[in-house]
Amino acid sequence: MYRSHTCGELRITDVNKNVTLSGWVQTSRNFGELLFIDIRDRYGLTQIVFNKTENIDLFTQANQLGREFVVQIKGKVVERSNKNPKNPTGEIEIIANDLNVLSASKLPPFTIENNTDGGDDIRMQYRYLDLRRGEVQEKIIFRHKVGHEVRNYLNANGFLDIETPFLIKSTPEGARDFVVPSRMNPGQFYALPQSPQTFKQLLMVSGFDKYYQITRCFRDEDLRADRQPEFTQIDCEMAFVEQEDILNMFEGLIKHIFKTIKNIDLPDFPRMQYDDAMRLYGSDKPDLRFGMQFNEMNDIVKGKDFKVFDDAELIIGINAENCANFTRKQLDELTDFVKRPQIGATGLIYLRYNEDGTLKSSVDKFYNEEELKKWAVSAKMKEGDLLLVLCGKAEKVRKQMNELRLELGNKLGLRKADEFKPLWVLDFPLLEYIEEDNRWFAMHHPFTSPKKEDIEFLYTDPARVRADAYDLAINGVEVGGGSIRIFDKQLQAKMFERLGFSDAEAQKQFGFLMNAFEYGAPPHGGLAFGFDRLCAVLNSIESIRDFIAFPKNNSGRDVMLDSPSTIDEKQLKELNINTTI
Ligand code: AMO
Repeated sequence: MYRSHTCGELRITDVNKNVTLSGWVQTSRNFGELLFIDIRDRYGLTQIVFNKTENIDLFTQANQLGREFVVQIKGKVVERSNKNPKNPTGEIEIIANDLNVLSASKLPPFTIENNTDGGDDIRMQYRYLDLRRGEVQEKIIFRHKVGHEVRNYLNANGFLDIETPFLIKSTPEGARDFVVPSRMNPGQFYALPQSPQTFKQLLMVSGFDKYYQITRCFRDEDLRADRQPEFTQIDCEMAFVEQEDILNMFEGLIKHIFKTIKNIDLPDFPRMQYDDAMRLYGSDKPDLRFGMQFNEMNDIVKGKDFKVFDDAELIIGINAENCANFTRKQLDELTDFVKRPQIGATGLIYLRYNEDGTLKSSVDKFYNEEELKKWAVSAKMKEGDLLLVLCGKAEKVRKQMNELRLELGNKLGLRKADEFKPLWVLDFPLLEYIEEDNRWFAMHHPFTSPKKEDIEFLYTDPARVRADAYDLAINGVEVGGGSIRIFDKQLQAKMFERLGFSDAEAQKQFGFLMNAFEYGAPPHGGLAFGFDRLCAVLNSIESIRDFIAFPKNNSGRDVMLDSPSTIDEKQLKELNINTTI
């Protein structure tokens, strides 16, 4: 028996028990007569004491232990004289009477403690050691618990967990595919799934009317803190449902997770039209933990000989409450922020509504007190508030203002870590025009159903066509998204045509799905949550990497495996790949 207890288990009630513990040496402190060793496993830390006078051989042996040695220790639980209230096992210690080194360790490249001295790169390279650290382990355990509750909820609601293949043909989700050469089919490639989208729709045709899968998806796209090339979706689909059924079912799932994992009762989620989200927040995933809705000011600011506003398509202000006392330096910082190339505004205009009731703007030359008063009224300002104004092309200025709003939210501490504001964003546009390619693309994917009443505009006014598509945002993060699907072969063919696929191309790429729809496809819809993102949001952490046991770095590399890597000539030949870089 390697252990009778874990290193996080023993309490004052266990005093006098003879126990066996196994774990890693975290620290060793030699006080001459006494030697204290903390041993660690994933359950906690326990202090072991070796007494020189009582057993000199054992003491000497213990004194040679290095950090991260794996040891088995036998001994007796005693009450500590010097208790540590911060550690759950801190009221006891073990007087050792036997020590067995199970495995020696080289000196680790960084300290395995919460306050480690290791930088990002070294910790990624030795990820298995980083994963020994308590705070890193906690996140992986947290993920396990969330996954467990997801399964509990979906199983209880009659969903079936069904696996779909990884070696598939490209699914059109918009990102690039990772491809895998086929040895047995020279010159041909599989693609790794960007999501199980088409398979889950086929499962609906097969009659599995409630499907889920917690599964890996692969997308060759530029990486950010909330994006990994391989990530996990909680992928779901239901048949014989309308949008309302789906929103209710999955709002229930998110509420269940918040309740069971965080003991938070979330009220019903608000819903917002995509158009309103863009107009009021300049984002399809607004962070609702704070206000600062956009105030469109065209009507009140144009026509006063201020060319910048007169030439602008859209002028937007946001009211930063109680910020009229911002210093020149603070305003300059915000101006520099919006002028950064990533944001690209040309400048920032402000209006202070001073505590004494006076109004002071950066464009006083063009607007008198009375006119400025109108600005203040339209933005619902009160004394002590600060209005920040940006202008330009509508789409651009909304994006810029969104960035400024979030920056202000951060600076003013309005994006609180312990507050959670979910939001359904509904009725996304069906299509988006990509200038570069000179054609319309499906904003979600080509299987998304247009709103019935908008189908007539598919050709006359494509931008106007809305989709039965929805996203769930929590605190400004897109946690999930989905849609009601087209289940009518004719409409699906029409969609492919609109997207510029010839009949032959549509047949080649999606023939399997269109053919399936000829054999009785039920109405269906679904959604997928980003599992990694959900875990990160639940912890108010931006990076999803922390919740992935073996993540890739920002260049998509696994620095531990040193992958991707070249493969040898023989392997390439077998795969019929002739070129090496
Ligand atoms: P979508 O592409 O919106 O929808 O993806 C669903 C959710 O997956 C998460 N996500 C990611 N997480 C980490 N890294 C990435 N690279 C990444 N990309 C996406 C997001 C996102 O909301 N098949 C459809 C779903 C459906 O229609 O049912 C789909 O994949 O949280």
